[in-house]
Amino acid sequence: MANGVSVRRATRDDAASIAGIHVDAWRHNYRGLIDDDTLVSLDAALKVETWREALADDASVFVASRGSDMLGWVRTGPFRQTEEARPEVGAMTPGWAELHGFYVSPRAQRQGVGSALWHRAHRWCLDQGYRDVGLWVLAGNVVAIRFYASCGFRDLELDQNFEIAGQALVEKLMARRLDPVS
Ligand SMILES: CC(C)(COP(=O)(O)OP(=O)(O)OC[C@H]1O[C@@H](n2cnc3c(N)ncnc32)[C@H](O)[C@@H]1OP(=O)(O)O)[C@@H](O)C(=O)NCCC(=O)NCCS
Repeated sequence: MANGVSVRRATRDDAASIAGIHVDAWRHNYRGLIDDDTLVSLDAALKVETWREALADDASVFVASRGSDMLGWVRTGPFRQTEEARPEVGAMTPGWAELHGFYVSPRAQRQGVGSALWHRAHRWCLDQGYRDVGLWVLAGNVVAIRFYASCGFRDLELDQNFEIAGQALVEKLMARRLDPVS
């Protein structure tokens, strides 16, 4: 793959690297969007066992690496219905896939890693028989919104409110039809 980056299915042994990239990307990309106190209190070590259990439980996570150096990951699965979402979302999304998490290490961003992960996630969605895929993205996360737009997602303008550690936030629903020929 381009730049020596390869993408494979994650195993339990990837739990620590996945948790580390998750926390690093939050601190780097969410500064100014999420309260500093919340970002400072993140602890990758506390997430490792949860990730080990999820991966042992066959979570669909794909990791991008260059050699043994993990650069990013994407987690896929069925679209999760939430009580906060508008009724239109609940009516529209049954049978959709969702990108549950998408994180590239700050030191590897804007090098095509996210695009490589998206291609693998897209293939997974098609292989599972999905026809549409959606995701929730923080409304102020301009970089991610541009990235998803570059992957063919569009803003459905069905924002929902949610909270992290008492902070009120807004997230956007972005989605696209899967493309069997890509
Ligand atoms: C969003 C994210 C996964 C993108 O991954 P990436 O590896 O940096 O993206 P790529 O290098 O594959 O970029 C592909 C395209 O996306 C767009 N894009 C990516 N980063 C961008 C940026 N900083 N500014 C503007 N456009 C950007 C561009 O169109 C880019 O193509 P180009 O470089 O040829 O112009 C990464 O920035 C990230 O991990 N962000 C922090 C976590 C996050 O917000 N995740 C989303 C949670 S919903």
